[in-house]
Amino acid sequence: MSQDLAKRKAAEAALRYVVQGEMLGVGTGSTVNHFIDLLAENHFDIAGAVSSSEASTERLKKHGFRVVDLNSSGPLSVYVDGADEANYRLELIKGGGAALTREKIIAGASKVFVCIADESKLVDVLGKFPLPVEVLPMARSFVARELVKLGGEPVLRENVITDNGNPIIDVRGLTISDARALETAINTIPGVVTVGLFAHRPADRLILGSPEGVREMSRLG
Ligand code: 5RP
Repeated sequence: MSQDLAKRKAAEAALRYVVQGEMLGVGTGSTVNHFIDLLAENHFDIAGAVSSSEASTERLKKHGFRVVDLNSSGPLSVYVDGADEANYRLELIKGGGAALTREKIIAGASKVFVCIADESKLVDVLGKFPLPVEVLPMARSFVARELVKLGGEPVLRENVITDNGNPIIDVRGLTISDARALETAINTIPGVVTVGLFAHRPADRLILGSPEGVREMSRLG
């Protein structure tokens, strides 16, 4: 319950980044659900939203927001999304909600990526949260063997198929000291669609909520 309040506080603090009349990138997850609800409760007048999942699209539409395809939205000035883990460089693990591929695309297409999370998501070293990897179905076993070579313990996520029709492998047992190098290494395995490491395109702002309030971190450089 207090974690839910922390998520809502983080979501509330992200409202100040929303530019009325413009397109907005919207991510996926329970923290983003608060954000979508708060957009509606506060009567934000956005031109439309580019959404990272069918679930967020449904919630946005339910509130009466227009959802636009990224191909017709043009570049986005702001993208708001959650994370499963974040480090002090604002590198992230994402994909706990299986939306990592669309999330990475929208983050890449956005000028400012505002990440919202409860404070428990901040870690010194990424990797305690199993790293999600979306793979093409035929490459599942091959990619899993390659992930073992990189030191991980891959586990197929049961009963989950992404919005893109692919399975997800969750990789346990990683201590990610060089997130950019690992992102590149996993991206290079044939059959990998997306790895849920956001290091080459980290967040620009990280808003961490707690029941008492929020604190905000910015990426340096
Ligand atoms: C979905 C994600 C989410 O942002 C991540 O799982 C955080 O979710 P929550 O806000 O529910 O803690 O990456 O793919």
